[in-house]
Amino acid sequence: MILQGNRVTLGITGGIAAYKAAELVRLMVKDELRVRVIMTVNATRFVTPLTFQTLSQSQVRLDTFETASPERVEHVILAQETDLLVVAPATANILAKMARGIADDMLSTLYLAYAGTTLLAPAMNTQMYLHPATQDNLRILKDRGAIVLNPGEGELACGDYGPGRFPDPPYIMERILDLLYKKDLEGKSLLVTAGPTREFFDEIRFISNPSSGKMGFAIAQEARRRGGKVYLVSGPTYLTPPWGVEHIPVTSAREMHKRVLALFPHVDVVIKAAAVADFHPLPLVDKGKFKKGKKDSLTLELKANPDILAQLGKKKKGQILVGFAAESHELLKNAQEKLEGKNLDLIVANKISEGFGKDTSKVAILRRDGTTCELPTMSKDEVARVVLDEVIPLLS
Ligand code: CTP
Repeated sequence: MILQGNRVTLGITGGIAAYKAAELVRLMVKDELRVRVIMTVNATRFVTPLTFQTLSQSQVRLDTFETASPERVEHVILAQETDLLVVAPATANILAKMARGIADDMLSTLYLAYAGTTLLAPAMNTQMYLHPATQDNLRILKDRGAIVLNPGEGELACGDYGPGRFPDPPYIMERILDLLYKKDLEGKSLLVTAGPTREFFDEIRFISNPSSGKMGFAIAQEARRRGGKVYLVSGPTYLTPPWGVEHIPVTSAREMHKRVLALFPHVDVVIKAAAVADFHPLPLVDKGKFKKGKKDSLTLELKANPDILAQLGKKKKGQILVGFAAESHELLKNAQEKLEGKNLDLIVANKISEGFGKDTSKVAILRRDGTTCELPTMSKDEVARVVLDEVIPLLS
């Protein structure tokens, strides 16, 4: 992971959503962040420190005056060792203290000793959230540069209905990574395609392939985290588009062709991870569902779809073009032919048996200068990182 820093201090304050912070800590540890947890006294009434100590594999800070050794001023040292301060859940009380500079416990004291970015996830009863005092405090904190997540809306633990819910931990996690990532794609626009296409021959039946879309979605997420403006044109998948990405859902190859060509002049990079159908069937009926009748066989006539990437290769004016080659045999030879034939800058070659529809992939990256980089089996997130690492030098 390419982070500017990985030391996160997580403040947990006394609201019922404190138990949801456990999931957040688990996600942070999974993504290799170094998490230090500070709990307020009231937070410990909802969840025990042991929960967070176990999940974060580190001592939970509770008391400003508790120190590992006499010369350590804990709140000052911890503030210096923090790349990002997250307060989740943030109660009305901690927001008020932070806005006014009251330092009467470990968390509020550390906040004053800390000069970096703060991410706040307010969660509380709707009336408390909407109260002018809380709204004023949030405004003060935002003006001071804090990033404040909007609470979710819905039924709250107290029975009220409205804003005040703790945002989903994966969403908070995404915002944390967004703040920690190195922005080496800042100012660049990327168009990523993903997933299969569906080629219908009546109202409900279609030809398609088992592409999951995971590779393209992973690239889109990584590019966005690295500061790029990302358009994700995807065929039908079960995946949730990554936060901050402009998602353009399409169904058929011809629809994808239209959307990709329209965006092409506005982007610096195109990464075509989609498994585009090469042909579409001619419809069997003008409208509705085809009736089988007494037929014991049926022939579909297929017509070629546009080769989107090959067209981009002809039109390109300085854009970087990255293709994917899905091959069942002669991987490198076929990929090389596609690299040259479609006028690409890079091609990511993968054997269908080693990636299609899976969470991992084993790929080789072929470059325009004739060199090849063969990678071991990796998660698709890791492949996404390597592909973008290859793209960045081509942009300068
Ligand atoms: N591609 C495309 N439009 C198509 C077919 C493919 O843009 N109609 C793109 C894919 O998104 C991929 C690259 O071209 O980036 C190679 O796709 P692939 O399916 O591996 O190969 P094809 O070019 O379709 O050739 P073949 O099916 O004969 O292997």
